[in-house]
Amino acid sequence: MTLPTAPGPIGVFDSGYGGLTILRSLQKALPDADFLYLGDNARAPYGSRSFETVYRFTLEAVEYLFRSGCHLVILACNTASSKALRSIQQRNLPELDPERRVLGVIRPTVEAVGAHSAGHIGLVGTPGTVASQSYDIEIGKAYPGFRLTSRACKLWAAIVEACEADSEGADCFVKADLEALLAQDPEIDSLILGCTHYPLLLDTIKRHLPPHVKILSQGDIVAASLVDYLRRHPEMDAKITRGGTTRYLTTEEASAFSELATMFMGHPVCAQKIEL
Ligand code: DGL
Repeated sequence: MTLPTAPGPIGVFDSGYGGLTILRSLQKALPDADFLYLGDNARAPYGSRSFETVYRFTLEAVEYLFRSGCHLVILACNTASSKALRSIQQRNLPELDPERRVLGVIRPTVEAVGAHSAGHIGLVGTPGTVASQSYDIEIGKAYPGFRLTSRACKLWAAIVEACEADSEGADCFVKADLEALLAQDPEIDSLILGCTHYPLLLDTIKRHLPPHVKILSQGDIVAASLVDYLRRHPEMDAKITRGGTTRYLTTEEASAFSELATMFMGHPVCAQKIEL
């Protein structure tokens, strides 16, 4: 595959809408950078899919973003970060282009959580993320002695993809999952929203959590980590175009994506439908 060598936008990938919660923070932190967002809405949610499938879908998306001129792609998706990131970095990048980079959301989140917890961390995520134990492994390494209690929230991402985040059904599922999590460890003092779709359920989540529990959304954490990465890697910084623009791509109908993204981003979004 021949890839364009000229500088290009930062690629941001998610299974669907969730990555918008990361993109918004990235735009704030790097206002003059160009971004290319890709949501695989036609195949979302990824949360209950097998390792092989998430890996294949994510690789297709990364290759598409590389072919579109991106030198750096952020997997703004915990499921893809936990199931596909390492394989792409180790198996595919050397062959595709060893100079390009793919970064995930889990490592920066784990680095940030220590400042907010006295030792009892809660995690809500997709079944795939929780089963991968990526957070258990990283938190175990970074904070030996801390307790991590996880809850696989089977339906939360699907609720967001169906634009039902404010429904009574959403309230009911969020309440049940958070009660089950707190029953496992009533001393939880900080909660990682370990799925980028979940900030779209933030009001509902807050309603069902004790007020002292610190909620960690990943947007600002990932943005701060990217700013730091670009400072340490001027060679990558130089490969990012600086027009302050964002293009939005989706594998589903563009009109539905544009409508939700317009609401969430707070300005008109006109998405384009593509096929992977
Ligand atoms: N937003 C994604 C995540 O952070 C994936 C949700 C899904 O597709 O199930 O895990």
